[in-house]
Amino acid sequence: MADQKATNVHWHEGDITRDFREKLLGQKGATIWFTGLSGSGKSTVAVALEGALYEAKRLSYRLDGDNVRLGINKNLGFSAEDRTENIRRIGEIAKLFVDTGVIVLSSFVSPYRADRDTVRALHEEAGMDFIEVFVDVPLEVAESRDPKGLYKKARAGEIKNFTGIDDPYEAPEKAEIILNSHEMSLDEEVDVLLAELKKRGIIPG
Ligand code: ADX
Repeated sequence: MADQKATNVHWHEGDITRDFREKLLGQKGATIWFTGLSGSGKSTVAVALEGALYEAKRLSYRLDGDNVRLGINKNLGFSAEDRTENIRRIGEIAKLFVDTGVIVLSSFVSPYRADRDTVRALHEEAGMDFIEVFVDVPLEVAESRDPKGLYKKARAGEIKNFTGIDDPYEAPEKAEIILNSHEMSLDEEVDVLLAELKKRGIIPG
C-alpha cells in the first residue's frame, strides 16, 4: 500500500452524496473485478456485460488492462512493484467511479492476491460492493487461444515475467463468482453476472 505523502490535506465532503447520484441513475455503484490469466476471457465477458447493461439502460464503464496501461499507467511495466502500483491506481479509480454511481467492469490480470484484497478492503471500508470474478481457465486453454501472440513470445523468451509462464498467478480464494469461460457460453456468463447484480440490488430485478 502506498504511503500518504502530502500532509495538511483533508477530505472535503460535498452536499450531494453517492446516494443522491444513485437515485438519479436508478442503480447502485459497484465494482465487478475480473481477474485471471491473459487470454482467460476477462475483457470478452466485460464487453458482453457492458452491452447487456446498456440494453437494460444501466450505466457501466470498463477499465481494461491494456487501455489503462496506454494512458494513466503508461509509466508502469510488469515488475512486481509496478503491477502492485497498477492495481492500486485502478482500485482508486474504480472507487471514484463507484462514488459516481457507475457499475465498474474492471479487467486486469491482477495476479497478486494481496493487491486484489487491498482493493476489496478499500471498497468495503467505503460501504461499496466489490464483486471478485475469477475467470478461471487452465493455462493450456489461455495459451492455446493466445489472442495477442504473447504466450508464444514468452515461451520463446522474448517477453520476461509473463504471468503463468515465468511469473506467478495467485488464484482467488474467496471470489464471489467463478467463470470457466472454456465451459460456459458468453450468454451464460452474462446471465450469472446479471443475476448477481439483481440479487444485490445494484440493478433493478
Ligand atoms: S497486471 O498484472 O498489472 O494486472 P494488466 O492486466 O494491467 O496486468 O496487463 C496485462 C496485459 O498486458 C495482458 O493481457 C497482456 O496483453 C499484456 N502483457 C504484456 N506483458 C505482460 C506480462 N509480462 N505479463 C502479463 N501480461 C502482459
